[in-house]
Amino acid sequence: MPTNQAEKPVAIVTGANGVIGKAIAAGIAKAGFAVTMVCRDGKRAQRALDEVRRASGSSDVRVELVDLSRREPVFALAARWQGRLDVLVNNAAIAPRSRTETPEGIEVQFATNVLGYVWMMRAFEPALRRSAPARVVNVASYWAGDLDLSDLQFQRRRYDNDQAYRQSKQADRMLTVAFAQRWRDSGITVNSCHPGDASSALSNALGFGGSETPEQAAATPVWLATESSLADTTGQYFANCRPARCAFAADVQGIAELDAICARF
Ligand SMILES: NC(=O)c1ccc[n+]([C@@H]2O[C@H](COP(=O)([O-])OP(=O)(O)OC[C@H]3O[C@@H](n4cnc5c(N)ncnc54)[C@H](OP(=O)(O)O)[C@@H]3O)[C@@H](O)[C@H]2O)c1
Repeated sequence: MPTNQAEKPVAIVTGANGVIGKAIAAGIAKAGFAVTMVCRDGKRAQRALDEVRRASGSSDVRVELVDLSRREPVFALAARWQGRLDVLVNNAAIAPRSRTETPEGIEVQFATNVLGYVWMMRAFEPALRRSAPARVVNVASYWAGDLDLSDLQFQRRRYDNDQAYRQSKQADRMLTVAFAQRWRDSGITVNSCHPGDASSALSNALGFGGSETPEQAAATPVWLATESSLADTTGQYFANCRPARCAFAADVQGIAELDAICARF
């Protein structure tokens, strides 16, 4: 991806020790980016860092440890961030089988899969603006739906991890539209995608395997992050490196309400 300066472009990938996140980090590093892998566990992060460096042939890859389900560490990462940020890939997600809450009392899937993406976009907006043209890629899913704006944290509904996951991925796709509108004239684009289906802790928790390799599953997010012809594309949903129809994008009122709710956290 071209930058408006001569220095190497810089990317963040969250959930970068996961199956798809690792392949995204390696793919973006191979494309010539300095990559920061955001992970939450030191040992898993170190193993993944070694793998990403080997797979990409790049030593310009580093790790930051951050629990993305909590606002404070996300904003602390942005506060200590130095220099440019050309690409942010929000990819970390979780689908625990029973309902759990963060120390702040937020249901964990909503906190990680939805607010984690929102907090990263808000916290890194100044760095992205400084580096514009810049991009955000929100890894969502075709497996999306059942969003209930009156019960985002499954306080009224009986918790079901699959339903909570589908809701969170619908929210990621809708919030992509909200941020694209918010950032219309900023030089920051934001798009969402279905990656691909790969066997992972997350897919197994949801009861399915996944027939694609991690690299196949990472192809669309890597392409969205690096393809120069997409420089002006924003607010769209993609699958298989192609634009895909997103039924949720037409829900203008729902998008505005969800955006307003998330802004309160
Ligand atoms: N796999 C599929 O078939 C599939 C299909 C459609 C969409 N997706 C999407 O692809 C993305 C990646 O999924 P995956 O299949 O690669 O899952 P995965 O292997 O389970 O990876 C998930 C990653 O998110 C991290 N994470 C979870 N909670 C976190 C937190 N609070 N703070 C920081 N990191 C956290 C995990 O870290 P730990 O290892 O420390 O838990 C892990 O690195 C997700 O957004 C998912 O919705 C996947």
